[in-house]
Amino acid sequence: MHKIDALEEKIKQAMQEIGFEVDQVLLNPSNRPDLGDYQYNGAMALGKKYHDNPMNIAEKIVEKIKHFPEFKSISTANPGFINITLSDEFLIDFANTSLRNITSNYNLGINKTIFLDYGGPNVAKVLHVGHLRSANIGQALNNLCEIVGCKTISDIHLGDWGRPMGMVILEIKTRYPDLAYFKEDYNGEEVDFNLTNDDLLELYPTATTKAKEDEQIMEEARKINLELQNKHKGYYALWKKIVEVSVGEIKRLYKDLNIDFDLWEGESDNFEYMNELFDYLYSKNIVTKSDGAEVIDVKEETDKKEMPPLILIKSNGAVSYEATDLAAIWERIHKFKLDEIWYVVDKRQELHFNQVFRASYKSGITSDTKLIFNGFGTMNGPDGKPFKTRDGGVMPLSDLLDNVTRVCEARLMEGITENRYDIARTIAVAAIKYADLLPFRTTDYNFDIDKFTDLNGKTGTYLLYSCVRMNSLLKKASEKNLEYQEIKVLKTETERKILIAMLDLKRIVKRSFENCSLNEICEYLYKITNLYNNFYAENKVLTEENIDTKTSWLALTKLLFDNNKQLLDILGINIPEKM
Ligand code: ARG
Repeated sequence: MHKIDALEEKIKQAMQEIGFEVDQVLLNPSNRPDLGDYQYNGAMALGKKYHDNPMNIAEKIVEKIKHFPEFKSISTANPGFINITLSDEFLIDFANTSLRNITSNYNLGINKTIFLDYGGPNVAKVLHVGHLRSANIGQALNNLCEIVGCKTISDIHLGDWGRPMGMVILEIKTRYPDLAYFKEDYNGEEVDFNLTNDDLLELYPTATTKAKEDEQIMEEARKINLELQNKHKGYYALWKKIVEVSVGEIKRLYKDLNIDFDLWEGESDNFEYMNELFDYLYSKNIVTKSDGAEVIDVKEETDKKEMPPLILIKSNGAVSYEATDLAAIWERIHKFKLDEIWYVVDKRQELHFNQVFRASYKSGITSDTKLIFNGFGTMNGPDGKPFKTRDGGVMPLSDLLDNVTRVCEARLMEGITENRYDIARTIAVAAIKYADLLPFRTTDYNFDIDKFTDLNGKTGTYLLYSCVRMNSLLKKASEKNLEYQEIKVLKTETERKILIAMLDLKRIVKRSFENCSLNEICEYLYKITNLYNNFYAENKVLTEENIDTKTSWLALTKLLFDNNKQLLDILGINIPEKM
């Protein structure tokens, strides 16, 4: 059991012994650190319950527990607070346990199986800055789920199906009508057609604009799309090629960002389940016709806002985005035994998911599996408006990464001659990811390259720098053959503060998991890094004469490094060797 939990339990028992009925004792990190490390505020409620002065109650409790070896001191304060200062032995013991098993501070023993749907990029379309958040937050949540004890299955859920695919194929057909894909007798053979991601980036906007401007082209694209869905040999083979090229580029970018998936499925895979899904839905008699469309009513009595019906099939006969997501749920729950499915998607899609979830529960597709929408806010440009390139276009994610890498490379120490680009890339990724995870998930924020890479700010750069420094201190100690297995003594107030902050970590991890947001972990990393940097400035570790003090300080450094590395891992951030 975590040491704070154990202490709370012990205090609870002592209180029961003196006759106070309590279900739970909660020790809160003190907001008056001058008075104590933790405070217990329960005496106020007990005062009401037992019609007694809270101060009396607090004093009775203190009298009963003041001899606990966990405490250095304990006192009461008006109107009934109990202030606790933990003993050094308690903190040292906690630190050494953590040092031996750092994950004990993160594992909450939650053993759900959670399916995470994040990323969701669209095939053949440029991956722009708007696509960063889903993949970044989703991956970090995935890592968080695993570290608290859950089993996870992640799926990129590619947007690889639908009318735009028909448009792109039509555009290719118009330009290269002689390609084997378009021949009557095409039989699935390999076609010598060189298609690159850059080609797609040009093809997609051209094709979609043409279709939008010309109803005839749109109609033709629709037809092609329908044939594609019926697995027309040539179109299907070409589509496969488009997907392959596009996914190659997506993989390359995501790899740099430490983003990966168990499943690289797409809407096309869900489509395979569409017939089964429709048979099921029809059998439940919940599908009705409305203005030529097929819909499911998902209103509920308690609705305050209007809830439009979910459209399964549009009036033009096309299968809707909602139907695709229902088919995705259908597939997932038939393949896996899931406690929850999490969607990490732009919060502007909330209504869509609300409708889908309701239809899924209402029709009984899901009963035991909880569907959870984790929407996120927008990343805007520095001016607070949607991010644009200098010429007014959308900013491709790869350009953004390259720009930040360039800034970071220019700032690298001159002494670093090898791997400058790779190191700068690692720092750039840290700067971008940390800035993206720092605000609460649903909050919008403005991208600001100078602010995000500031070595002295609340930034990924700052965190990495501190880790690199800890690492280099530990290396130097190893070179001097210094052993530092555990902490033996605490010398300064700052050391105590670091350990007290670390005691609080498990709760922060818990809240992060419950809120499905990484903001508190980001804030926490900044706070504990600051504390360590104070410690580093106050003490000369390597030249300290007292050997117990010196090895304790090294062990503390190791603990901090391991801790921060673990937390950065959750965020999907790597630590470079040097910077
Ligand atoms: N591809 C979609 C888009 O760009 C996002 C997919 C989100 N996930 C989902 N299951 N619908 O809007």
